[in-house]
Amino acid sequence: MELLHGRTTLSKFLIEHLRETQESNDLAALLVDVAAAIKAISAMAAKGALGGYLGEVDSHNVQGEVQKKLDVITNETILRHCEWGGLVAGMASEEMDEPFEIPAEYSRGRYLLVFDPLDGSSNVDLNVSVGTIFSVLRHDGDERPAFGDYLKRGREQVAAGYAIYGPSTLLVITVGRGTHGFTLDREIGNFILTHPNLRVPEETSEFAINASNQRFWEPPMQRYVDECKAGRTGPRARDFNMRWIASMVAEVHRILIRGGVFMYPRDTKDPKKAGRLRLMYEANPMAMLVEQAGGLASTGRERLLEHSPQTLHERIAVILGSRREVELIEQYHRDHDCGDDVPFSSPLFNERSLFRPEARA
Ligand code: F6P
Repeated sequence: MELLHGRTTLSKFLIEHLRETQESNDLAALLVDVAAAIKAISAMAAKGALGGYLGEVDSHNVQGEVQKKLDVITNETILRHCEWGGLVAGMASEEMDEPFEIPAEYSRGRYLLVFDPLDGSSNVDLNVSVGTIFSVLRHDGDERPAFGDYLKRGREQVAAGYAIYGPSTLLVITVGRGTHGFTLDREIGNFILTHPNLRVPEETSEFAINASNQRFWEPPMQRYVDECKAGRTGPRARDFNMRWIASMVAEVHRILIRGGVFMYPRDTKDPKKAGRLRLMYEANPMAMLVEQAGGLASTGRERLLEHSPQTLHERIAVILGSRREVELIEQYHRDHDCGDDVPFSSPLFNERSLFRPEARA
């Protein structure tokens, strides 16, 4: 009993936390079901090769990406944990072309669950941290949800979260009242509140981007990254660190813990794609978590949570993290769109330049 004293479990937190909101206990119950799926996925991820979970299957998802065994198994795991309780009206995921309909033997609830069951799955065989990302939307009425019912703006999410399967498994959630982290106590099988009220520091000297795409970026992104790389000899007048794990959950988790900015901007590598990351089950939930922790999330030109989705699997540019950096990147996009941007190589950048960010403040 000593061990349990004073610890806040996920269920206790949700019941107390949601008591003062409009949301019903159904939302708490749904998040507990999602957490149960996450515990099962955590156990699979931890077993790795010993569980026979590594490697690929002979199929592709709707994005044309080769599916890993774990992509398929984790998708099933979430569906099975959440279909039966009368809490969701339908579910959609990265791994399914069409939304999942709740089987006739179960009743439908008042929420839609949209998720990426195993984000960063290209890292699974490497034993690098991967995760699950999810978003909860409201569904009004008793009708079976139509495709269009899923296409809600990010600001309409009632809850969002991710799990990170690293040396420890954490579940980070928001129901619109701050962002809170829970660590899985494997012996007891409970998520315990360990990171209440996460806050993204406003300022940072760390950025994350896949720099191999630099030649495909738009000028404002080229400008921002060139300036960071120039460090104290450039207009930012301080040195920056760069990180790239190629696992969005791991990058966002780092930003929630110690700040930074994560960018997967629009590029011209494949002109058919408006970005790499998916709006509904990657960008939107992460944007809500980051904003609830005091950070910002943008496409560079628009607040991510205001973007109106056109399709379920839509891709979008993502720039999120420490407020000051995201604001600066948005400013560079505005400068560019007004024909006003200044490439870093410009002689205007020097010690006395008006374009030094401090000079603009
Ligand atoms: O599908 C998303 C994802 O795996 C993210 O988790 C990650 O940030 C990104 O793609 C990695 O992209 P790249 O392969 O270009 O490094």
